[in-house]
Amino acid sequence: AAPEISDAEYDALKREMRALEKNAAQAVGDDRSGEWPIYRHRERMLSLEKAYTEAELRTFVEKVASKSGEVLWVVEPKYDGLAISVTYEGGKLVRAVTRGNGEEGDDVTANFWKIAGVPKELPTGAPEVVEVRGEIFMDYAEFARINAERAEAGEEVFAHPRNLAAGTVKSKDAGEVAKRRLSAVFYGLGAWEGAAKQPETQQALHALLKAWGLPGVERVTVVKTDEVWGAVETLGRGRAKLAYPTDGAVVKVDSRVIQDALGVSDEAPRWAVAFKYPPDRVTTRLKAITLQVGRTGVITPVAELEPVKIGGTTVARATLHNADEIARRDLRVGDYVFVEKAGEIIPAITGVDVERRGEGVAVFVFSEKCQVCDTGLVREGAVVRCPNGKCVAQVKRRIEFFATPAGVGIKGLGPALIERLVESGKIKGVADVYKLTREDVPERVLAEIERSRTAELERFLAGLGVGKKRAAELMAKQRDLRAMADELGEDARALVALGMNPQSLREKK
Ligand code: IVH
Repeated sequence: AAPEISDAEYDALKREMRALEKNAAQAVGDDRSGEWPIYRHRERMLSLEKAYTEAELRTFVEKVASKSGEVLWVVEPKYDGLAISVTYEGGKLVRAVTRGNGEEGDDVTANFWKIAGVPKELPTGAPEVVEVRGEIFMDYAEFARINAERAEAGEEVFAHPRNLAAGTVKSKDAGEVAKRRLSAVFYGLGAWEGAAKQPETQQALHALLKAWGLPGVERVTVVKTDEVWGAVETLGRGRAKLAYPTDGAVVKVDSRVIQDALGVSDEAPRWAVAFKYPPDRVTTRLKAITLQVGRTGVITPVAELEPVKIGGTTVARATLHNADEIARRDLRVGDYVFVEKAGEIIPAITGVDVERRGEGVAVFVFSEKCQVCDTGLVREGAVVRCPNGKCVAQVKRRIEFFATPAGVGIKGLGPALIERLVESGKIKGVADVYKLTREDVPERVLAEIERSRTAELERFLAGLGVGKKRAAELMAKQRDLRAMADELGEDARALVALGMNPQSLREKK
């Protein structure tokens, strides 16, 4: 759930993998996490054949039409989330399982209960056992709300609603799951046991699922073979206005008799295909590569771009992750680069237009020295770090982090004010925050600083960048900050020297 490459690159790699697989007879794609009980689907969960161009889509539908005669097609949005199979037994919801490897998946029922709008019971007349198939996803508004909260707390943001949805469904933290609003939609069937009659068409299936009270697919159209491409294009044009992410259109044969006659190949039905919309992509100029220094000294290169509109927003920066990525892509300042945003909030540079490369555009040389403090940078695998803990950039980031809600939480003490205080020499480290006076900061910030003095040890440790696990280890041995300050380093020692000695929450109780 934390992608390192764009969706388009992923799909290209997956296609290559499929080609390789032809000789290997083993499938890729398995979402089992090892953290949930495994459940075997009564009926296998298939995936879909993909089409990436109009020609590929036309070839698919025309091949079906040549075999089965003129057929009706149902065109649906392809929701961008994770597949789920929900079993009702005796009309009662008993289980929700992820796709896994198609045969068996993670039984995430405990988390699934929290999704609003999914009936716990089906009306009378429903089959004795039925697996309904659909997608769990997160709408853009909820995605933005959670990411804004995380950014505020100084935590890493999620790249795409799909990753957040998948991370939430598989999370073992019940409190966290309860705080996030997931949605579900249903479009298919797995097992069906009992006397009730199965719907004869995909249209009738949609109607039945809705009649059962399950959230159904929106914007479904029914078309003839020569109208399929038009319907897919129309759906594509309307995508940007949808409140939730979609990454394609699914085109399905309407009639179940014809579906059954066409059958399935290894992994996918021969009666359906997913058309994947190309990601929004623009070309712009790479003006500069700046090196950002993080709280722990890690250097992150950032692409400074000629501002450009993409998918409704203006983009001027993109993260480059690390030095290796710049070298791998041979990115040079002055290059025209391709920027893609496929629903992700953070745009990615996915390539260089080498043909437009001007003369004298030099290979990017990663600086050997910290551009802030001039200390020699060190390389640890793919990571480049400034080893100077006193580097003023690191100091600013550490104070910023300390003041976020993830740390002791000091409202109003944000990056701009910290910048001013550090640059004017008022503060040189985290502890100096407690020496500030009314002359230095507004009254309300001072009040916040005073309030933060009484925060628990847990908050201080988090604010000092001590991870949860290490904090627990420290607190098992020692009861207050004074006792652990030597192990924690300068910021902690300086806090103690000021007379601060926060206690653990447990001790306080
Ligand atoms: S039908 C046998 N319909 O796309 C056919 N799938 O890439 C099973 N998906 O695993 C899938 N929206 O998770 C179908 N309207 C839709 C869909 C949809 C999203 C997902 C589903 C599937 C994946 C295949």
